[in-house]
Parts: sequence; structure tokens; C-alpha cells
Amino acid sequence: MTKTLLLLPGDGIGPEVIAEVRRVARALWPDLALEEAPFGGAALDAGGEPVSDATVARAKTVDAVLMGAVGGPKWAGVARHLRPEAGLLRLRKEMEVFANIRPALCFAALADASALKREIVEGLDIVIVRELTGGVYFGEPRGIEDIGGGEKRGVDTQVYTSNEIRRVARVAFELARKRGGLVHSAEKSNVMETGLLWREEVTKLHAADYADVKLEHILADNCAMQLVKAPRQFDVIVTDNLFGDILSDEAAMLTGSIGLLPSAALGEAGKPGLYEPVHGSAPDIAGQGLANPLAAILSFEMALRLSLGRADLADRLSAAVKTALDKGARTRDLGGAMGTREMGDAVLAAL
Ligand code: NAD
Ligand code: IPM
Ligand code: MN
Repeated sequence: MTKTLLLLPGDGIGPEVIAEVRRVARALWPDLALEEAPFGGAALDAGGEPVSDATVARAKTVDAVLMGAVGGPKWAGVARHLRPEAGLLRLRKEMEVFANIRPALCFAALADASALKREIVEGLDIVIVRELTGGVYFGEPRGIEDIGGGEKRGVDTQVYTSNEIRRVARVAFELARKRGGLVHSAEKSNVMETGLLWREEVTKLHAADYADVKLEHILADNCAMQLVKAPRQFDVIVTDNLFGDILSDEAAMLTGSIGLLPSAALGEAGKPGLYEPVHGSAPDIAGQGLANPLAAILSFEMALRLSLGRADLADRLSAAVKTALDKGARTRDLGGAMGTREMGDAVLAAL
């Protein structure tokens, strides 16, 4: 049966890295149907909103969605609900992709590209499971109000229900069962009510269904510290939307570059996944052909495996990426001189 992948290139380096995914997809699976729609700032400029109703509707019916990146200084002054990032948040919410799987893998060839010493990161293989459709990103009330005397008050609200915590924790436990059998649950139960509820729900679920998996509770600030001190002590880390956003950027630097980190956002089984590199639109290098396309290519690899039913092709693609890196393919973020296109060429050559 024909499968369909919806590409949302977006802004900045988004279109540059998605162009390489397109080439890789064509070579690997000529019959995969590729569709494309404007997204983020590009969609705002073209149609007045960062994602159209038609694109949201299509995203719910294809087999998988792959997003490049959104945002940039051009839209810094735009109203909150029209910002490119708001389009991405709406898409995540409407696709109900509540579990964001962000693996951080240190490729052997890149152990010296990390900001940390080789002996700390060599062989690193961890996964951050970030809650993606709740928490402070979506909580109400929120806003900025005048409180008189020239003063204002800004409000964001962190909210989690039991079910929101349980369903993402379940994804983390299931994943750990197939990996190293260890879950760290990171929150701030020492200061936050949502943190306390998070710890209670994860503890209950663990006792009920996952007693075979080892569970450690860790305060999110200590987790950030331990990730730099001894990252290989972790296997799967499950955490909320905001902590997951921050901890995954931190994990990126353990692997060598944020240009390497893919992600998969998943909802209930059978629903389309949303795949995206962890990095943003990189305004400082956009339009120059310098971006590392591997995070996007590896996000496609996750889509092949988790939404498109082609683990065989995913295995070939990840092997090709490893071969390219082993042979010395390096974009600038990895200390090399290759451009986006040349890195794409290196992966295609290995394929
Ligand atoms: P960023 O990830 O875009 O860039 C941070 C740094 O990493 C920059 O120096 C950039 O050049 C570098 N970098 C990122 N991706 C790279 C790649 N593939 N190859 C080489 N170098 C790479 O983060 P930022 O600068 O904080 O954010 C820029 C814009 O992107 C903001 O508007 C932000 O909201 C948005 N953003 C979007 C996403 C997304 O679309 N998923 C993620 C993060 C940030
Ligand atoms: C990410 C990004 C997004 C987030 C932004 C662009 C909305 O930083 O995917 O990590 O904060 O979730
Ligand atoms: Mn982020």
C-alpha cells in the first residue's frame, strides 16, 4: 500500500535540510508519496496564519509528517498566536502527539566533536521522552496584563492531569523495556505541585504495570547536572514539556551538535507521528547551505521505523549515516567544511 509523508519545510534552514531528506527519500523508497505544505513564518507570509486548517487536517490523515524548522527574527514582533512557533504548537496539539521521543546517540566517529571529553560521552545512547501537548506551553491563564503605575504582570500556568502524566510515562516504560530497562523521571516535586503529582502518578503506574523496569526519580536541576557529569548513567528520561525542551538541547551537545538530534512525536497507536529535528531555524546560518541535514535525515529514519512500517529501510539509512560519518563527512558544526548538500551527497553515496 502506498504510504504518504507530508513535508513541512518551514523557515530558515528548514527548507535546506528538508531538501536533503527529499533526495534521500527518493533514493531509498521511490514509491513513497511526498506531499508538501507551507508552514511557520512561510505560511504566515503566504496565507496570514502559521498553519492553515487544511494543513492541520491533512496532517491528521497522512501516515507521517516531517517538519523542518520554524521561526526567526523576521517574525519576532508578530502577535503570539500568529507566531511561527504557535503554528507548531497548534499542530502538535491537534495531532495529539503527546510523547516526544528525543534520542541522543554519540556516534563513535564523533566522540571528539562533543563539548565533553571522549571518555564521558563515548557509547552514549539515551532517550529523552518529553511530554509535548501539556504543561506550561498550553496552561491557562496566560498573558501579560497592565497592573497600573506603569507596571505589568506576565502569567504562564503549568498544568498536568493524571492521565497526561500516565500516558507519557507509559511510553517511557515501554521504551525502557526494549532498551536498558531503566527510567529516570525528572520533575521538581520539591517546589511544584505538578511535580508532586508527576512523581505520584509515575510511582503508581510503575508499581501497577512496570515493576520489571527500574525507576529512579530525579529532580530536574540535578538531572541537568548529571547529564553533563555522567550521561551514560541514563537510559530513558521522562519529563514534562518545558524541562524536556531544555534537557534535550543539553543532550544534543553530548552528541557533538544539535544538528544531529532527531525526534519523533507520537500519540495513540495507529495515529500519524510528527517528526522534527530538535534544532530550530538557525537564523545565523540560514540561506548559506551550511546547516547539518543529519537531524532531519535521522528524523526521517525514525518516521520509517515508527510510522511508515519500514524498519528495513530505517536500518539501511542509519547504517548509511554511520558510514558517511566514519568516512569523515563533517559539516561545520562538527568541525568540518562540508555544506548541507555535500553531507546529503555523503549519505546518498553510502546508501
Ligand atoms: P537554533 O536551534 O535555531 O540555533 C541554535 C544554534 O545552533 C545556532 O548557532 C545554529 O546555527 C546552530 N544550529 C542549529 N541547527 C543546526 C544545524 N542543523 N546545523 C548546524 N548548526 C545548527 O535555536 P535558536 O537560535 O534559539 O532559535 C532560532 C529560531 O528557531 C527561534 O525562532 C526559535 O523559536 C526557533 N526554534 C524552532 C524549533 C523548531 O522548529 N522545532 C526548535 C528550536 C528553535
Ligand atoms: C523544540 C522547539 C519548540 C519548543 C519551539 C520552536 C516551539 O524549541 O521543538 O524544541 O519549544 O517545543
Ligand atoms: Mn527546543
